Amino acid sequence: MNPLIDKYNRRIKYIRISVTDRCDLKCLYCKPKDSDSHSRRRAILRFEEITRIVRCFADLGVGRVRITGGEPLVRKDVVSLIGQLSNIEGIEDLAMTTNATLLSKYAIELKNAGLKRVNISLDTLEPETFKIICGGGELKDVLKGIRKAVNVGLTPVNINTVVMKGLNDDEIVDIVNFAIENSANIRFIECMPVRHTVNLSKERFIPAKEIKSLVESHFELEPAKSSGGGTASYFTIKSAIYNPQSTIKIGFISPVTQHFCESCNRVRLTAEGILRLCLGYKDGIDLRGYIRSGISDESLKEIFIKAIQDKPQGHQFSNDKCIPIEQSMSLIGG
Ligand code: 5AD
Repeated sequence: MNPLIDKYNRRIKYIRISVTDRCDLKCLYCKPKDSDSHSRRRAILRFEEITRIVRCFADLGVGRVRITGGEPLVRKDVVSLIGQLSNIEGIEDLAMTTNATLLSKYAIELKNAGLKRVNISLDTLEPETFKIICGGGELKDVLKGIRKAVNVGLTPVNINTVVMKGLNDDEIVDIVNFAIENSANIRFIECMPVRHTVNLSKERFIPAKEIKSLVESHFELEPAKSSGGGTASYFTIKSAIYNPQSTIKIGFISPVTQHFCESCNRVRLTAEGILRLCLGYKDGIDLRGYIRSGISDESLKEIFIKAIQDKPQGHQFSNDKCIPIEQSMSLIGG
């Protein structure tokens, strides 16, 4: 029996781990503009602490790990963490979410260390809009990172686009074409109200249904055969104008208009070692405290099993009821 089944009969198979709250970008929907303070070094989990937590979760049946941030590639030596995690028995899928500004530099090393695939944030193909949405950085570095990831086989590469009215909704078709040209999947995401993004989400919100209609005015879609096992509903292109052979998937992720909480199979670990059971709740369990006070693996696993029992039934974002959680995505792990 897998002990990580919660009281709503959801089996936990997936852990998302933020390895730093630092980021080289300040995307409107993620990092607060005024947030120049970062967690102190000592407060951040060390690699051996992360590896230990993952080993214990793997013993309990968790087989999927995603490394996030902040921006994971700004953490020193993150490649060596990937190497450690990929050697843990039972970890079948090891992925990373990155903004890709540094990816062309690290892609080969990451692949060799055992990383399987990457999700990459790309909200625009216009350098000027990139500066507005991402608060700095160079679009060309990101594009280079995407191409490199595809070339070295960190695949399937999933591109994440947070759609915002008046900022990038006019680029949806171009972004789909970019994904086709680069053999990457593309996922369009509703902008979630997270702390400082409550107003942004209200003012610029576009429901996934509308995003899908925009895509469908240019591409004929049909439901994909495999679901991807995550939060997106996936489609393939029946008749791609530019590339009829394209087999990429187009996903729509609707955390606001249509929760997928009933099939949630994940927990999150923040950079400071807080185990969070739901994105929409600020409460969590301080694993760093337990680990630094010398807890045994067996007791740690018991804490996990008990924690899963308290996983909330669902989060409470909605169109008209934006309940801001107290931390930004850059802290929780996007
Ligand atoms: N709304 C929707 N998606 C978000 N992400 C971060 N913040 C938000 C938000 N407020 C997602 C983006 C990014 C990933 C790291 O997290 O898709 O690619």
